[in-house]
Amino acid sequence: MSSQDTDREKQQYCEPTYALTNKKNEDYPFDAPSIDQRLTPEQTKTNLANKIRKLLEEYSHIPQEEQSKHVHSIRDQAFAIRAYPCTGLGVWLIPYISLSPAYATIVKRLQGGDSMVDIGCFVGGDFRRLVFNGAPLESMVGVDLVSHWEVGYELFRDREKFRARFVEADLMTVEEDSGLQKLKGKMDIIHISAVLHQWDWDAQVTAVKKLILLSKPGSLVVGHQIGNAQARHVQNPALKTLLQSRHDPASFKEMWRQAGEETGTKWETEAWLRSWEFMGLDAGNTKWMEPGDAILDFVVTRLS
Ligand SMILES: C[S@@+](CC[C@H](N)C(=O)[O-])C[C@H]1O[C@@H](n2cnc3c(N)ncnc32)[C@H](O)[C@@H]1O
Repeated sequence: MSSQDTDREKQQYCEPTYALTNKKNEDYPFDAPSIDQRLTPEQTKTNLANKIRKLLEEYSHIPQEEQSKHVHSIRDQAFAIRAYPCTGLGVWLIPYISLSPAYATIVKRLQGGDSMVDIGCFVGGDFRRLVFNGAPLESMVGVDLVSHWEVGYELFRDREKFRARFVEADLMTVEEDSGLQKLKGKMDIIHISAVLHQWDWDAQVTAVKKLILLSKPGSLVVGHQIGNAQARHVQNPALKTLLQSRHDPASFKEMWRQAGEETGTKWETEAWLRSWEFMGLDAGNTKWMEPGDAILDFVVTRLS
């Protein structure tokens, strides 16, 4: 195998190939022409669009009539960095973290001085949501393999006031990366959304063990990923993915049991499958998914 092949394999392992090139003008259904539905309460059966508008208006001081143009310009900037489907479809605007059963606990724990890291933080939208809801930002650290942090300042117009830290690093390098090493054993809350599903079972177990390195007894690991009503491996044809593991709540729990056993730690795992509708997505947004796919929402607590 040439060193170029090895590099390519390594790259596929730390992030998915479908995100790596700018897919504009190619046959790739995620460079959506309009993401206005994210801002349109009549088009989402939940209150999510109103929450998005309110954050942009009251936190970022962007008047309602300017919001559509603004979010489309941000979407294009982010899509040029990495071509994730959720980037193209404006899914990053949806305040998923606030739907977590642990959300009130997270806000309270941050107010009490807990630390939090967001792995795959993208533009830092979940942190802005928490700050808007009264959490202090002093102990927040965003981590992403590739920085979208500047785009986050543009999106939220808060360069002067948003002082959370950002580390550009690959989760898989916790033991080697100097920025990540500083977080080892120190994080009270670990958030990871729409990241783990990019890997197969073994790589997800490896990634979970990296998260465990950041944790300490009492830590919470919260987030969501694409799951399925029945645990399975998929190779999505629209994205031409490598094998990816889609968990149901039982297999997700088993993955944490395995990772806990291999690291000498104990975890309580709760996971729920949520409908696309509950998460603010419609059939058009999810037509490229596998049958039975849904969102798997999780709260995992370190017992010892
Ligand atoms: C699909 S986006 C999800 C963004 C955000 N968490 C959300 O839920 O909207 C995945 C993010 O994870 C980042 N990412 C992918 N692989 C990573 C890795 N190995 N280490 C750190 N970040 C990673 C990507 O760069 C991207 O910003």
